[in-house]
Amino acid sequence: MKAVKITLDEKKMPKAWYNLAADLPNPMQPPLGPDGNPVSPQMLEKIFPANLIEQEMSRERWIKIPDEVRDILFRWRPSPLRRAVYLERHLRTPARIYYKDESVSPAGSHKPNTAVPQAWYNKRFGIKKLSTETGAGQWGSALAFACNLLGLECKVFMVRVSFDQKPFRKMMMKVWGADCVASPSEETQAGRDILKKDPHTPGSLGIAISEAVERAVSDPTGKTRYALGSVLNHVMLHQTVIGLEAKEQLRMAGERGADIVIGCAGGGSNFAGISFPFICDKIHGRKIRIIPVEPTACPTLTRGPFSYDYGDVAKMTPLLPMYSLGHDFIPPSFHAGGLRYHGMSPLVSQAAVEGLLEPRAYDQLKCYEAALLWARTEGLIIAPETSHAVAGAIDEAIKAREEGKEKTILFCLSGHGLLDLAGYDKYLSGELKEACLSEELLRKAVSSLKDHPQPKILRTGKW
Ligand SMILES: Cc1ncc(COP(=O)(O)O)c(C=O)c1O
Repeated sequence: MKAVKITLDEKKMPKAWYNLAADLPNPMQPPLGPDGNPVSPQMLEKIFPANLIEQEMSRERWIKIPDEVRDILFRWRPSPLRRAVYLERHLRTPARIYYKDESVSPAGSHKPNTAVPQAWYNKRFGIKKLSTETGAGQWGSALAFACNLLGLECKVFMVRVSFDQKPFRKMMMKVWGADCVASPSEETQAGRDILKKDPHTPGSLGIAISEAVERAVSDPTGKTRYALGSVLNHVMLHQTVIGLEAKEQLRMAGERGADIVIGCAGGGSNFAGISFPFICDKIHGRKIRIIPVEPTACPTLTRGPFSYDYGDVAKMTPLLPMYSLGHDFIPPSFHAGGLRYHGMSPLVSQAAVEGLLEPRAYDQLKCYEAALLWARTEGLIIAPETSHAVAGAIDEAIKAREEGKEKTILFCLSGHGLLDLAGYDKYLSGELKEACLSEELLRKAVSSLKDHPQPKILRTGKW
């Protein structure tokens, strides 16, 4: 009998997060201020609390997870590692497909892994309120959940297109006591400016970030800070519990490691979570293929240039060295709302520059096809974002069959799709169309980068 669920004893939940910045052969280049000089920690203090800024800039390999944070994470962690034996049978593949099931968290995705520590560090710093953006609503609901547990107020700016398509996520936020509005909103200068130009805009994560940052820095009491659900180093750090647990669980399943590691990539956090501990092994000599999967409608890693760019439309964040489609890029309103971000985590970007990753992009129709096959073999209805990783795992499993090779494939099942059924319905009724970004729109989008400073392309050439 093959083990289908590999559960890790609570005592084995990681006690420290893994920081890839300690091992990257070429370090990530520093964020820059508007004058082109590296930002100092003090310059970020109106946006983030000092304890998280310290993590953001840290090059230490291991950072201890506070006991109180672990105590909250125990509600759902360690998450199960499962083997997709039913899909394997269906595909007649010699590959063994494992997935880390992050859908078991209270908010239904990987996002609470960082929402909880971010709320905890803010609370410890004396902050009373967090403001944030959300795409599909996964991050907003995760932060609402965490703030509620830690007694913080929570304000969420939700991208308009998802706000309209996904009413249940905003109800979840309400249940956990947060206030959620559609972005762009009339509540901030950034929102009002965008609405004046385009009253029917579907919104974007870049716009919602501008609103949330503005809300934090303009609080006259100084007790509001901004929380980001992806992209930044400390967010990647918090998500590494996923890959650290998975490594231990693969050992328990009798595997010597993974041959292929896959995650869908929006801002990069679940991908970082599952892959960074394996990238560490790759840097130290292991042969592992590591694949971030993104949508063809928002192809940051596969078609965007590596450039310094802002994290938001109103240029309120520092310039970050990352693959980007341009800070004012508004992707078409396809259904994987959480993958609509114009940029990619600088740590993930530097790993890609180094040649450690094999990014690829899939169209939404292919991803829904994979999600249906998953639901009809394994059972769970997955988030549209997650379907990109499932499509990647299926492609690799079929390749293993064609090559006649046993392989161990690991991916992150980043969330369930029980509140995303409208997208499934559209797919099943044939309403969804291919959503590939045209060359013309791409050229237009990246033209905003032409005057930005250019980071160096630092690559050892080893991979
Ligand atoms: C279920 C799920 N997976 C993946 C993502 C993509 O984000 P990230 O790349 O930060 O993991 C999101 C974002 O909202 C999400 O909700």
